[in-house]
Amino acid sequence: MEEKVSSRRGFLKAAGLVAGSAVVVPSLIASTTDKTKTQSVYGEYDSNKIGTVSQLKKDREIDFSYPDEKSICKAVYIDGQVKAYSTICTHKGCPTIYNKDLQQFECPCHHTKYDAAKDGQMIIGHATGGLPEVLLEIKGDDIYAIGVDGLIFGRINNNRG
Ligand code: FES
Repeated sequence: MEEKVSSRRGFLKAAGLVAGSAVVVPSLIASTTDKTKTQSVYGEYDSNKIGTVSQLKKDREIDFSYPDEKSICKAVYIDGQVKAYSTICTHKGCPTIYNKDLQQFECPCHHTKYDAAKDGQMIIGHATGGLPEVLLEIKGDDIYAIGVDGLIFGRINNNRG
C-alpha cells in the first residue's frame, strides 16, 4: 500500500504536478508584448468588440463573426453569465440553431445538440466534441472576443479560414 503512495508521488513529481509547481495551460497563453493579441495553440487572435452586456441582457443573444467574417458565432446570456461559441457544428460543418428555451445549440443536419451553459459540450449526436468556445473579456459594458478555445470546423488553424 505504502509503495503505491510513494510511486504515485514520484509520478506526480516527475510530471511537475505537485503543489508549488508552475501550471501551464496550453490552450491559452497571453502575449506579453502586445496586449491586443492573444496567442493560443489554435492561433493568434485580435481583440474585437462584439457588443455590450446591456444589449445581450435585453436580446439574450448576439450574432457576430470571429476571428474572421467566415466564422459565425453567437454570444448568449445564461444564468447571469456571458458565453459565446462558434455556431458551426463540429460534425460536418452545418450551422447550428440556438434554442433559447433549452439553452442549447441544435444542428438541423444530423441533430447533434450542444449545451450552451456547459462550455458548449455535446449533449447528444454525431459530433465527437463540443462547440469551440469564444473567449471573452468584459470591460465595463463592452464585450470583446479575444480568442477561441477549440478548433473551428474545417480549419487546421482558426485564423486560416
Ligand atoms: Fe451537425 Fe452532422 S453536421 S450533426
